[in-house]
Formats: sequence, C-alpha cells, structure tokens
Amino acid sequence: MNSKINDLLARVQEFHPKAAAEIEDFRIRILGKKGELTSLMEEFKTVAPERKRELGQSLNALKQAALAKIAALKEEFADAVASTPAIEDMSRPGTAETLGSRHPISIVKNEIIDIFSRLGYTVAEGPEIEDDWHVFSALNFPPEHPARDMQDTFFIEKTPDILLRTHTSSIQVRTMEHQKPPIRVICPGRVFRNEAISYRAHCIFHQVEGLYIDKGVSFADLKQSLLYFAKEMFGEQTRIRMRPSYFPFTEPSAEVDVSCNLCGGKGCNVCKGTGWLEILGCGMVDPNVLEANGIDSHEYSGFAFGMGVERIAMLKFGVKDLRLYFENDVRFLQQFESKL
Ligand code: DAH
Repeated sequence: MNSKINDLLARVQEFHPKAAAEIEDFRIRILGKKGELTSLMEEFKTVAPERKRELGQSLNALKQAALAKIAALKEEFADAVASTPAIEDMSRPGTAETLGSRHPISIVKNEIIDIFSRLGYTVAEGPEIEDDWHVFSALNFPPEHPARDMQDTFFIEKTPDILLRTHTSSIQVRTMEHQKPPIRVICPGRVFRNEAISYRAHCIFHQVEGLYIDKGVSFADLKQSLLYFAKEMFGEQTRIRMRPSYFPFTEPSAEVDVSCNLCGGKGCNVCKGTGWLEILGCGMVDPNVLEANGIDSHEYSGFAFGMGVERIAMLKFGVKDLRLYFENDVRFLQQFESKL
C-alpha cells in the first residue's frame, strides 16, 4: 500500500493540465466516489493496526497534496481565462469609435470670439433671465417701445418686469456696472423672442455683442474693426457697407452688409440680386446709455455692435433653413468642423 500511495502522490505532483476542463476530470479520478484516493481510504480500513499510524499519515499527506494541487490549478486557469483576449486574431482592425463634433453654432461663435480677441477684446457673459433695467431701460428704450410688448418678449413676471433677455446688449449694461473704461468686451449668449418659428426665425437664437469704450473712440474705429472682422470671417476679398439705421442705444446707428461671397457681389439668389448680405447692427454708444451707466459721456465715447450667430453661420456654411440648427440631427451637425 505504501508504494500505491507514493505512486499516486508522484502522479498528483506531476499533473500538468493543458485546459481547465482537465482539472475537474483529475479531481474525480482521484477524489471522486470511485476515485483512486477514495479506494485507498477503503483499503486502509483493512490494514493491520500496527501499520495504521504510518499509513494514515501518508494517506492524509496525499489527500492534502491533491486538494492543494487542485486549488492551485483552478486559480491558475481562472487567471488565464480572464486574461485571454476576446479576439483571437490580434491583427484584425478594431471597430472605430465615432467622434462627436462641435455644433456649427459653437464653431461660428468661437470663431467670432477668436477674431475679436485678436483685437484685444475679452469675453463677458450675463444671465439669460434679466430685468427691465438691463434689457431696456439702461439702454435708452423709451417706455412705449414695442420690444417691451408681450408680443416680442417672453415675460416671467410683470411688475417688476422679469423676462428672458431679447438681446445680448444687456451684457453691455452689466459690464459697465462693474468696469470703468477703457472697456473692450465681446459678449456671446443665447437670446429669446416671442416669434413664430420659420426657416428664417426662431424663438431661441444666439447673438454676439461687442462694446468698446475709451477716450476718443470714433466711428472710423468702428468701421475699421468691422471690416477686419468681415475679412477674417468671410475672406480677404470681402467688402462691407454701412446703411443708416436706428437703435435706441446707439447714435448714430448703422446696419452692416458684407459683399456676397457666393456671387462675389454680382448678385445671386442668396443675396436676392443685390450683391450684399446684412450681418449686424452697430453704432456709437448713445451718450444717454453712458450716463445711465455712470460713465461721463464728455470724457468717453464708444461703439457697440451686435450680430446673430445663426445668421453668420447660415451665410458661412450656405445653410438655408435655420431650424436645422435646433433639430440636432447628427448627420447635419457632423458636416461643419472641417469647413473652417
Ligand atoms: N441688440 C440688437 C438686436 O438685437 C443688435 C445690436 C444693434 C446691438 C446695434 C448693438 C448695436 O450693440 O450697436 O437687434
């Protein structure tokens, strides 16, 4: 019996399975009901009492060795299973992850900020929920101005008026409140107007406002800054023209057109045959606005301008329906990052 024990112990020690399934077979062959060790245990019952002590110890040592071996092998194979790569053929190309892309409105907004930051402008922001003072009164809107009407403005509360800002010009006021001239800020933001949604209008859209206040700022500075912007945004060949206009917060006021970059100014259906496309409103900050915001209008002058980001993006990318910007169809949104 001693040699049987030693023989089995040797086989246990030399067992090197190739696959995990072999371990269980091995366990059954040794420790199972009809296993070799189990039958040795049976045989043990019949040995002479004086040999029981010695053989009992050997059998016990064999059993412990078999159990330890099985446990160690199981652990080894569990690690191997976990680290087995799911793909057998490592040289096969992987599945490409599709990358997200920036929204065209963000692309154009960032481009506008970038251009003006090269002229020394810094970014200022303000709240979307505003009061009457910052959106209208401090900007020289007379009490009966139609923009104060419910038809144009989303009111949250009446008396006192709390509303969704209708333009980013409110950030001009917020800037003047805590900054003394010289002021040179660019103010991007979302604005809200009570408008019917169509291919050319939406009740939510984006604007970028500009404000420059210092000693001796003139209309010529305004014109040159906007010409620089137009060339950077639409190309070196771009020209601008200014048409007289009216805004309560600027005097004089103008609307600015850029030469149509599709037909080069000859006239096409995008510019409706005129060769020009309107892109923004601007003017010299009205002295009433400076004074309402605590700035001495005899010492300082300034200009301001405001543009719609959707409008610039439509012209730049040739998008004809503004609603596409809000539908968030990935196929539409993916097209723009490479176009800059
Ligand atoms: N706030 C005007 C609008 O929403 C745009 C604008 C026009 C802003 C002239 C200005 C400006 O700063 O000088 O239509």
